[in-house]
Amino acid sequence: MPLKQLTQQYQQRVDQALEQLLNNTSNIADELHQAMHYSLFNGGKRVRPLLVYLTGMALNIAAEKQDAPACAIELIHCYSLVHDDMPAMDDDDLRRGQPTCHKQFSEATALLTGDALQTLAFTALSQNPHLDDSLIVPMIRVLAHASGAAGMAGGQALDLSATGKNLSLQQLKIMHEHKTGALIRASVQLGALCSANTRSADFEALDHYAENIGLSFQIKDDILDIEADTQTLGKQQGADINLNKATYPSLLGLDGAKKMARECHHNALDSLSHFDQHADPLRCLSEYIITRDH
Ligand code: IPE
Ligand code: IPE
Ligand code: MG
Ligand code: MG
Ligand code: MG
Repeated sequence: MPLKQLTQQYQQRVDQALEQLLNNTSNIADELHQAMHYSLFNGGKRVRPLLVYLTGMALNIAAEKQDAPACAIELIHCYSLVHDDMPAMDDDDLRRGQPTCHKQFSEATALLTGDALQTLAFTALSQNPHLDDSLIVPMIRVLAHASGAAGMAGGQALDLSATGKNLSLQQLKIMHEHKTGALIRASVQLGALCSANTRSADFEALDHYAENIGLSFQIKDDILDIEADTQTLGKQQGADINLNKATYPSLLGLDGAKKMARECHHNALDSLSHFDQHADPLRCLSEYIITRDH
């Protein structure tokens, strides 16, 4: 099945599971509930859930086992976007083509929305009827590590402290690996952890694949900030330049950044060389990441 069709199929699947999770969350505060719904169902590409499912496909793991981790990773991602857009961070007004959460509601609600989406991710993982508890604990460990100070949150802190400064290539790579790479890597790890039978050599190869696409994903995000238009992007074009952010194009120039993204794509493909055709969708996804228009 072509990647486009698989993407649609899994987008629907994860949306349904997310809807169910949110419906089962007790609604004691209307505005918070609405803001959570608003921030989850506003047209995200769902790349991280897709990675969970496609890793499962490469390893022949049943899709129902992947629903909870797919939801969990998207919940963390959406929380990170809500907070990323807030005035104290990137101060953005537009996300996925609509007003950002704090613009639509309020800063206080956006703060709480991020908090509540984050904790719902761990609820999703811990209440998974399709997985044995012995598999769930390592998944919680992976997701917590990837989200916190040693992962995404730490990377966001590096991003803020790097603003307006000249970073070395090595420092920039470390920032990207944390703020974006950590959750992308966790998506693949969670997919692979859905089975007790995943061989360690396969796990490592997939992890290497994920490291490379994690980096190419943020490089492409930085390129799109320059090359795309606001409408296609669904977020303000030029936001990085306005804030004087440290990015690959700012350090290497556009051509240098594109070359680096392609190198990451080729490294990602090399990592999968021992996998059969069941890993083809992962191969296509790596290419999509560096060719996408938003
Ligand atoms: C945007 O992520 C933020 C980054 C980590 C670069 P996506 O490009 O996956 O955003 P959505 O979920 O599709 O809106
Ligand atoms: C976002 O990076 C990374 C996280 C949200 C963790 P950016 O700040 O570049 O993402 P966009 O461009 O606002 O989507
Ligand atoms: Mg940011
Ligand atoms: Mg931002
Ligand atoms: Mg960006």
